[in-house]
This record gives sequence, C-alpha cells and structure tokens, in this order.
Amino acid sequence: MSPHRKHPGRKAHIALYPGTFDGLTYGHLDIIQRGSNLFDCLHVAVAHNEEKKPIFTVDERLEILRTETAHLPNVVVSTFLGLTMDYAEKLGANYVIRGIRAVSDFEYELQMALMNRALNPRVETLFMVPAAQQLFVSSSLIKEVLLLGGDVNQFVPPSTERMLRQKLNIPDKHGRNGSGI
Ligand code: COA
Repeated sequence: MSPHRKHPGRKAHIALYPGTFDGLTYGHLDIIQRGSNLFDCLHVAVAHNEEKKPIFTVDERLEILRTETAHLPNVVVSTFLGLTMDYAEKLGANYVIRGIRAVSDFEYELQMALMNRALNPRVETLFMVPAAQQLFVSSSLIKEVLLLGGDVNQFVPPSTERMLRQKLNIPDKHGRNGSGI
C-alpha cells in the first residue's frame, strides 16, 4: 500500500518534520514515531543549516535518520535547501510538525510558525510534545556530555553515538572510537 493512502477516499494527511538533526536523539525519534502514527506520510527533512556549523555532513545525517527510521514504512527521509515552506509545497505537505520541549523553545517556535504561516497559509504548524524523559535533551548537550566523558546511550541511538565518537575522536568503554579502531 502506498504510504500516502492509508484510507482510500479521503485526502492524504502529509506532514513535514524539518530540522538540522545534527546528532539525532531519541527525542527526535519520539516525535518521528508519534508523527508516523498520526499521518499517512511523514517526511523527515534535513535542512542545510550552515549557520549552526553542524558536526555531521548532510549525507551523514541522512544515513543516521534512514537507519533509525527503517522500521517505519510511512516515513520518508530527505534533505532540502531554502525555505521549509517551499519544500512543504513541493511535497504537497499539509502540516509541518515541530517538537516543543520547554517554555524556552516556545518563543522561537512561535515566531517560526507565524512567519511560515505568512509565507504559506495553506500549511499548518503543529507542535508535539516529546516523551518526558527526553524533554531536556538537545544535540549540543549530548556532544558536551560525550566530550566530558559521560554516557549518552540513553539519549541517542547507537548510530548517532558511534558517529559522534568517530567525529570527536572519543573512544567507547572498549577503547574503540567509532571507526572500529
Ligand atoms: N528531542 C531532542 N532534541 C530536540 C528535539 C527533540 N524532540 N527537538 C529539537 N531538539 C533540539 C535539537 O537537538 C537542537 O539542539 P541544538 O540546538 O543543541 O543542536 C535544537 O533542539 C533545535 O534543533 P532542530 O529541531 O533540528 O531544529 P532547528 O532549530 O535546528 O531547525 C529549521 C530549524 C530547520 C526548522 C529552520 O531553521 C528552518 O525552517 N530552516 C529552513 C529555512 C527557513 O525556512 N527559514 C525561515 C524559517 S521561519
């Protein structure tokens, strides 16, 4: 069955979840899992966000996302350059979803949602709440904890941890740095 057609006869609900995903966390995956339950098709798209000086290349972020969402048949992973709303239009998405973790996320997300609505009123932004145990997780905190020798396996999937250790040259408890060395 096409992922766009769970219920024949009604318009497909297509959502876009955009992000930098520079260190995919279980918090992102929680939003992806919830989104895949709600929509006929969920596009998870890596933005080229060079101002954030990402540690992973776009291809590496795509590889991690594809590995970690392989079990979700209605999730499609891709990348885009330019405005999220232009990409939503290209995909025919009716919704953009974003995770809200704390009040501190809200101001930035509200600004983006209102700007995006002004750019394309057809597309609704929906805010989703990740699992409580992931509310304080962010990609930069994960990098900091790893750099200082902490354990991050409860916050990020194995593929993120392996590639982060490789990038940051931090060995795991068996002395391997992620490249198998
Ligand atoms: N669980 C854990 N962490 C989460 C999370 C979740 N559910 N949701 C967000 N985060 C964290 C990320 O780890 C990241 O942490 P970091 O800043 O420490 O690296 C941070 O929250 C935000 O990351 P992300 O969700 O990837 O979003 P972003 O703010 O980097 O992405 C875009 C913003 C890509 C959606 C936005 O810049 C955009 O739309 N760009 C395209 C250009 C455009 O249209 N601009 C106009 C916008 S109005």
